[in-house]
Amino acid sequence: MKKTLKDIDVKNKKVLIRVDYNVPLDANLRITNDKRILATLPTIEYLLESNAAIILISHLGRPKGKVVKEMSLKPVSERLSKLLGKTVKFIGGDCISSESKKAAADLNPGEILLLENLRFHSEEEGKNTSGEKDKAVMDIFAKQLASMGEVFVQDAFGTVHRSHASTAGIVKYVKDVAAGFLVEKELKFLGGALENPASPFVAILGGAKVSDKINVVENLLNKVDSIIVGGAMAYTFLKSQGVSAGTSLVEDDKLDLAAELLKKAKERKVDFLLPVDHIITDKVDFANKRVPEGAVVKTTVDEAIPEEFMGVDVGPKAVEKFSEIIKNARTIVWNGPLGIFEINEFSKGTVKIAELVAESTDNGAVSVVGGGDSVAAIKKAGVDKRISHISTGGGASLEFLEGKELPGITALPDLK
Ligand code: 3PG
Repeated sequence: MKKTLKDIDVKNKKVLIRVDYNVPLDANLRITNDKRILATLPTIEYLLESNAAIILISHLGRPKGKVVKEMSLKPVSERLSKLLGKTVKFIGGDCISSESKKAAADLNPGEILLLENLRFHSEEEGKNTSGEKDKAVMDIFAKQLASMGEVFVQDAFGTVHRSHASTAGIVKYVKDVAAGFLVEKELKFLGGALENPASPFVAILGGAKVSDKINVVENLLNKVDSIIVGGAMAYTFLKSQGVSAGTSLVEDDKLDLAAELLKKAKERKVDFLLPVDHIITDKVDFANKRVPEGAVVKTTVDEAIPEEFMGVDVGPKAVEKFSEIIKNARTIVWNGPLGIFEINEFSKGTVKIAELVAESTDNGAVSVVGGGDSVAAIKKAGVDKRISHISTGGGASLEFLEGKELPGITALPDLK
């Protein structure tokens, strides 16, 4: 178990918190989704109550070591000020400039400072100014960040799968280090599901590509009772079994692998459920995310997709089958949509699954949802409050489910 915020002394201390404020911005630099900011409030509020001085550090986007105006964290400081009802100071330009360091040094207990985007420095990602990997520059940068605080709190769950200065690097230069409440909660739910799941344990996996989820399937095959697969990756699995997939998105170079995974599931007595029917169409306007005029949309009679048609969502019989499994589940992990969720007409299967997961949670199951589109589906279905845990990490939660080591977590000290 990792040391968490309540295991260390933060009273009146200067506390550096690594947060993940990599939030989406529109063309006018307005934040379009602030869930990652909201998710850090428990840690910030606890530290304010402890009379700590708070220095927040984060990245936003992938500026690749350059100052990119559009990737400034300034809009975040404004949103956070509003959410807290308290001024969040912001120093633009450079997170380790003398001005930033002075602002950190002058910060009083109960005050908050947000520094500029860490990734304006290539050293954050362990690269020198020519873009070459260089651990020494990462260490120097980590040390400079560390010099601004007495305590370091890791609360950027969305970034703990990166081995960066502000995740893995900084820890050794600060005496007191702990996981924040957000990271603690993510580890409790994701870790709990993988290490100690109540049975039946059901994984629901969607998304376009088998290749994105191979390692998740491999890892989960040792842990779950059932795997439900939807989204375009289901067509690759079906085709690997000789079922026609029409013009559906299929990874033809992954057919052997898909067949191999199905074989493994059988050997391990894991119930591997693929859609038994589909919503299909002959035309999709992917660019404008809509069904073009004149397109034929229908439901298949079984799992086979006729030539000239592509699968775009799971069909009603498939949802019925999945629902039996989801209703009986005690632990549910879900990552990825089951259809072309961005297009309203093809989001129905995913939304229905969201409702079923919520219903099962109401009846006592523990549900953990990760990945942008499945989280959006939960919101669209209006059931977000009924899910046990919605992960703030896309890549990080996926790597967690793959059983991979997360450098930002490994670096944190264990509770003795
Ligand atoms: C994310 O949005 O997944 C995290 O903020 C990590 O961002 P990255 O993929 O650019 O490292």
